[in-house]
Amino acid sequence: MCGITGYIGGRQAAPVLLGALEKLEYRGYDSAGVAILEEPGGRLFVRKAEGRLQALAGLLARETPRGALGIGHTRWATHGEPSDDNAHPHTDLSGKIAVVHNGIIENYAPLKEWLQARNVVFKSDTDTEVIVHLVDYYHREDAGRSGIFGAVKKALRRLEGSYALAVISSDFPDRIIAARKDSPLIIGLGQGENLLASDAPALLAHTKTVLYLEERELAALYRDHADVFNEDGERIIRRPETIEWDNESAEKGGFAHFMLKEINEQPRALGNTLRPRLKQAADGALDIHFDELAGAALAEAKRIVITACGTAYHAGLLGKFLFEGLARIPVEVDIASEYRYRNPLSAPGDLFIVISQSGETADTLAAMRLAKKAGGRVIALTNVIGSTLAREADFTVNTLAGPELAVASTKAFTSQLMCLCLLALSLGRDRGRIKGGEFQRLVRALQRIPDQAGDILAKQETVQKFAARHFNKNKVFFMGRQADYCVSMESALKLKEISYTHSEAFAAGELKHGPIALVDPGTLVAAFATQDALFDKIVSNIREATARGAKALVITWEGERAFNAAADEVFFIPKTETPFSPLLSIIPAQLFAYYCAVQKGNDPDKPRNLAKSVTVE
Ligand code: G6P
Repeated sequence: MCGITGYIGGRQAAPVLLGALEKLEYRGYDSAGVAILEEPGGRLFVRKAEGRLQALAGLLARETPRGALGIGHTRWATHGEPSDDNAHPHTDLSGKIAVVHNGIIENYAPLKEWLQARNVVFKSDTDTEVIVHLVDYYHREDAGRSGIFGAVKKALRRLEGSYALAVISSDFPDRIIAARKDSPLIIGLGQGENLLASDAPALLAHTKTVLYLEERELAALYRDHADVFNEDGERIIRRPETIEWDNESAEKGGFAHFMLKEINEQPRALGNTLRPRLKQAADGALDIHFDELAGAALAEAKRIVITACGTAYHAGLLGKFLFEGLARIPVEVDIASEYRYRNPLSAPGDLFIVISQSGETADTLAAMRLAKKAGGRVIALTNVIGSTLAREADFTVNTLAGPELAVASTKAFTSQLMCLCLLALSLGRDRGRIKGGEFQRLVRALQRIPDQAGDILAKQETVQKFAARHFNKNKVFFMGRQADYCVSMESALKLKEISYTHSEAFAAGELKHGPIALVDPGTLVAAFATQDALFDKIVSNIREATARGAKALVITWEGERAFNAAADEVFFIPKTETPFSPLLSIIPAQLFAYYCAVQKGNDPDKPRNLAKSVTVE
């Protein structure tokens, strides 16, 4: 969605704000802006620019404001097209108050009418602009007696919807007021300076000590301290926390794009996910243990319900195969935005697993809250410690993939899968479905996965060359059976997200029931084949497509010859136990999507129309 930031301290605010916005740009990048309190003069300097952050950086290079207090914003448009006027910060009529906002004000239309009836003239089409005029209204109503904090507090009472916001006023040059509801906001505590941001990577260059603002809380940031308040304005004592990620892991580290870096980080990320959960006994026997799930009584679950969005939903679909296959426990998987509105049935003994890289996706949070209301135990599977999901769920399993900044999710996905493999295995063992020897064999297979992922990446040039030949196909269909079908869904999503190629996934057996009508000589069909018992069927499906002029690619086990005659090209992945194949087979598809995007001249880190974290409905 959008990214907001703020700085108050002893340094020049402009470069600090630009640096933070650069880290937040993955959240939205159709326009950006800053408001800085000028010194001397004490006036607000506001500059906004449509387009990527460079446009704003260009403006600020020509006309650099001096001042050590400011707020900034990078936008993903919801209300009002991307334009200079609709970019944040928005200011009141006097130009003394400025606000940046992430979220949606659902009742902005009646509020706008109410304000217009009081002679407020709006300068933008955004929902956000009502906030700044409301703050101004309440500020003037009591002649400034309750200060900018009091005015913000009153304005918030009028708002319905979601917000993370920051407000500054030239009448109060020593503070930034911030507030949140249903959108993330973190305060970074520095030495003689304080910051705020929508997400941790924007703070890491300055501090690792943070305060997480909770639902409906407000904060006042000063140069030397920051106070947190509840919605009634009462002080709250909030203990600072330390972020473990280092600044370096939020940098590109020599790779052309974050996405390529994150794809290549998968061996390390998978190892980081796996290691803390593996315990080795004196006799060398391996065991799986999630310390964070003590008391979760997983083995007593009668049914598992998984909800998530996007890539995390695909991890959930694969979770169904894992839990049903390895632990023989029924699993239902639902897209969070569907689950929350379909009046779902829940029963005592249901265990909910809610998956989200960011832990901030609005639909996923709503599904989690619904599950909790129905009395379910909720386990959050997330990559962001301190995220709303992590804090509200009963138990949190951290995927430990490290910061993922490219919009298209890669290492977070495989780390989610690794967690699901480990959970399913340990549940299978606890329910007596997997016996000692088989358990050891399967755990050892998982232990080899990080190195095997490295082996695939060592051959990424093959995928790059293949993409150079096929990036301009007008359609790419992925197909497979069982878990391979779910990997196909994730592959199609990756390709459409960043290369804008029309791409779909089909259960291979369904090809002949309709989709085959779309196959023509401009089509590439990519088949995943890791379900050994179904290889003959996949060969037939490939022939159905190539007979209609399509080119065929197969992704299968190293050394497998079953597809040599039918396919135009075969990518090999190292052999692992069948339930774990998605951990490896998705990697060539991630690379293919990446290289197609680059061939087409797209920016894979910031694909059009998308945002990494969708904190509105
Ligand atoms: C957005 C992103 C997707 C992501 C989805 C769920 O749509 O563009 O890449 O999979 O949100 O995000 P989450 O943070 O909940 O995993």
